[in-house]
Amino acid sequence: MSSDLVRFTIAMPQDLLEKLDERAARRGIRKNRSEAIRDLVRDALVEDSCADPDQEICGTLTMVYNHHASDLTKRLDDVQHDHCDEIISTMHIHLDAHNCLEIIAMRGSVAQVKEIADALLGLKGVKHGSLTTTTTGEAL
Ligand code: NI
Repeated sequence: MSSDLVRFTIAMPQDLLEKLDERAARRGIRKNRSEAIRDLVRDALVEDSCADPDQEICGTLTMVYNHHASDLTKRLDDVQHDHCDEIISTMHIHLDAHNCLEIIAMRGSVAQVKEIADALLGLKGVKHGSLTTTTTGEAL
């Protein structure tokens, strides 16, 4: 993709423009509407990429579970050992006497990463979790 900048005009309602400026200000780029709009377009393109099952992506799964739940720790380990090619790093935090927070970084196709996340989040005893996906953006 060319990195040459192309100028074009955008028309939008005043209140929408104000919301764009507010959003840009929160991200510290208040004075640069072009950068704010480029960020929005890149966000949309990454989101589109992550909808394609064959697209290579990175994902982070964050989950909380009670490690006292029957053999849950073993079942979580079993799923992770079954996918050591895709799981590239894990962080485990002992939140309190009962609860653990685990963050799992993955790399693979959208289909693979979502399958692993679903397998882990579907285990009985996992209280909450969510998957965040992204790409390097090199194709965007
Ligand atoms: Ni723990």
